Amino acid sequence: MPMFARLAAAAVALSLPGLALAAPAPAAPAQAPASAEPFSLAPLPYAYEALEPVIDAQTMRIHHGKHHQGYVNNLNAAVKANPALQGKSLEALLADVASLPPAIRNNGGGHYNHTLFWKLMAPAGQGGEPSPALAAQIRKDFGSLEAFKEAFQAAGAQRFGSGWAWLIWTGDRLAVTSTPNQDNPLMGDAPVKGAPVIANDVWEHAYYLKHQNNRAGYLSGWWGVLNWNEANRLFEAATRKGK
Ligand SMILES: [Fe+2]
Repeated sequence: MPMFARLAAAAVALSLPGLALAAPAPAAPAQAPASAEPFSLAPLPYAYEALEPVIDAQTMRIHHGKHHQGYVNNLNAAVKANPALQGKSLEALLADVASLPPAIRNNGGGHYNHTLFWKLMAPAGQGGEPSPALAAQIRKDFGSLEAFKEAFQAAGAQRFGSGWAWLIWTGDRLAVTSTPNQDNPLMGDAPVKGAPVIANDVWEHAYYLKHQNNRAGYLSGWWGVLNWNEANRLFEAATRKGK
């Protein structure tokens, strides 16, 4: 090899900036960088103030940008600390929470539940109505839409401390249930399992700035921002999966 070629090759190998320019430009990476986080926070599907007056903009800003971001950060850290968990879907992690570190339960649940929650809300007047199929199933299992709402609000009001109220599809019927902390009905050890159709966050961080200790007021007002269109979609997907 001529002397210049040997020098150039050595310079590229050493990444000398001046001579390295002569080397071919590296191809764009075909995959995400190895440092990419397993899970990420999606933007809200509406503006922070879009749900006022039911939920104020500052609550939404803190809830999404601080609380949910915190669950995502902690979940990523927990997965990185457990090589056996890397590459698993969030649903797979939730199914196995009983045998995994508590950080996966708390932060995996937090990430899943909040991702669902944001989509299940819409600005007042934009959430649509229950589909004929969902409305019929609600009447069958609860007697009426009002009776379902009462049961759902009671589940949220009676949850001691922090947690969630749920409407789930159990495989053959709709059921109202409640979970503590960031648990959810997908978890392998959930006492009542099913596919979420509606979810409401009853942690104080979801309502305290506006409603203070009046959780019942938050729960009754929340119907005004429920996104029935998303609930209809979740119900349709859950019942189709079960057939
Ligand atoms: Fe929350």
